[in-house]
Amino acid sequence: MKYNIVYFSRTGVSKRVAETIANGVANEVIEITDNKNWNGILGFIKGAFYASTDKEVSIKVNGEIDRTKDYIVVSPLWAGGPAPAIRTFLKEVPFNKVKIVITCDGSNVEKSIKKFEDKHGEFKESYGIVKNQNNEEEIIKQIIDSSK
Ligand SMILES: Cc1cc2nc3c(=O)[nH]c(=O)nc-3n(C[C@H](O)[C@H](O)[C@H](O)COP(=O)(O)O)c2cc1C
Repeated sequence: MKYNIVYFSRTGVSKRVAETIANGVANEVIEITDNKNWNGILGFIKGAFYASTDKEVSIKVNGEIDRTKDYIVVSPLWAGGPAPAIRTFLKEVPFNKVKIVITCDGSNVEKSIKKFEDKHGEFKESYGIVKNQNNEEEIIKQIIDSSK
């Protein structure tokens, strides 16, 4: 295993991205889950509330992390920042070992990542996969090329 490739996903986009990257660098993926039900419209509203107020969640790391290795962390953007489960996960990880990959629908993801970095620290590399820019394939290729 070269990287700890971890993801959280509510609707499958970040899962797909993490798995495609993992395939490209011959690696496993580790899913981060939390103790909340984010399903449906109520889940969406609760998610926006948790994300925007920086509310804590308890997480489960469904695999073995190798702390000597770097990380590729894939998260959806929730109200301008990584999803709560990923925020919790990142508390235990040095940001200079993390390539962060944020999936979102249409936000200015560079700006969101920058805002998060200003508050919490600078990532090793950062990438935005934006649905309405249709850039998933291209960005995944860049990540794989820089991770071989
Ligand atoms: C609570 C919540 C907040 C979101 N906030 C944003 C946002 O601020 N900007 C954006 O472009 N997309 C936002 N989205 C959309 C997701 O980031 C996007 O659909 C993502 O790719 C979904 O990834 P997933 O399928 O791995 O959960 C939000 C979704 C949820 C559930």
